[in-house]
Amino acid sequence: MSELFPTDWSPVGREPRAYTDALRADHGIGRNDRGEWVLLRHADVVTVATDPERFSSDVSRFLQVPNGLNGERHRAVRGVLDRYFTAEALAPFEPAFRAIARDLFMSVPRGVAHDAVNGVGARFAVRAQSAWLGWPTDLEWTLLGWMADNHDATRTGDPARTAEVADRFDDIIRGLVVVRRDAGDAAPRDITTSLLADEIDGRGFTDDELVSILRNWTGGDLGSIALCVGVVLHHLAGHPDLQQRLRDGASERETDAVIDEILRIDDPFVSNRRRTTCPVTLSGVQIPEGATVKLHWTSANRDAEVFGDPDAFDPTRHAADNIVYGVGPHVCPGRPLATLELRIAVEEALAATTALRLAGDPPPEREVAPVGGFRSAHVEFL
Ligand code: HEM
Repeated sequence: MSELFPTDWSPVGREPRAYTDALRADHGIGRNDRGEWVLLRHADVVTVATDPERFSSDVSRFLQVPNGLNGERHRAVRGVLDRYFTAEALAPFEPAFRAIARDLFMSVPRGVAHDAVNGVGARFAVRAQSAWLGWPTDLEWTLLGWMADNHDATRTGDPARTAEVADRFDDIIRGLVVVRRDAGDAAPRDITTSLLADEIDGRGFTDDELVSILRNWTGGDLGSIALCVGVVLHHLAGHPDLQQRLRDGASERETDAVIDEILRIDDPFVSNRRRTTCPVTLSGVQIPEGATVKLHWTSANRDAEVFGDPDAFDPTRHAADNIVYGVGPHVCPGRPLATLELRIAVEEALAATTALRLAGDPPPEREVAPVGGFRSAHVEFL
């Protein structure tokens, strides 16, 4: 099948946007060097994400709650977990997120190049997440170190290294779960403890399930929020007019819409996988049963067939087709939390400064597949 696609489909070492923009016009679907069928077009990605019967989420040999679940079990678990992401559930955390962001942006050095990804984004992500889950603040350096190692391991694609880094993270989480189980009524009243009391099918989650849930929450939160903050602040620094629009008192809705559209243009959450449960045909391409298909969100969000010029900034027109947070039954449950955290980060960055300006030196460095966004993006806070 791969001979149908004479192009080199190895994404390794390439910047995902440049790589997929170049491929998408001629090849909507192709096979990469891992034998995965990569879907670059918006229509194909939406078809697969919204058809869990033919495209199963059972793609990993590891327990993945809820990501790897299907059907009724998935719906039931989402029913329990989505309660943590309602507006009412998140509202109490807003003051803490705001204090964290304010403190961070007030302490950023002025008028010099400062990395929006590692200097700001990663720190904000770790602190906000720890505040949300009730994790101790002294975990900050452990988590920051883990994030850097995780990105390194992901970039290399070395399964042994990725597994070692994943195990290390599971150990951190398991420790937090066990401490709370052992403490019984004396456990801190936080979201991590609250998960211990949740029930599914008349029983509580096992420790393995809890570790998986927390891993999938924190995996989404830590890495993605850090990368999203980097992309958004860098974009605002490079677009003074847009920055001014937000400074002139944009509503929360407008700010959210601006952030979503920046992320559509430059989506750092690159891809997810599915497995075909039967032979399927997508855009005229036959894919066998049992194949791994990759939903390339970054590419789909830049598909000219849907968005015209992928870089044209039009939050209102593009909102309905924006799939930065996915679509279908596995659509991101963390979206309200991510939206709140990103809005607060932007609002406080603007409130703490008179301008965000692109720093010419050092130039921005792009991440490479399978990670998206920037590895570093220096901005001057004035
Ligand atoms: C920061 C920006 C974020 C982006 C761009 C993002 C993006 C996505 C996308 C595209 C999916 C769909 C995956 C699929 O269909 O296979 C997804 C699922 C998921 N996200 Fe997020 N996410 C973000 C933040 C978060 C946060 C803050 C959390 C939790 C604290 C989170 C937890 C999850 C989980 C658990 C799933 C799997 C849901 C399921 O399989 O039912 N994400 N996310």
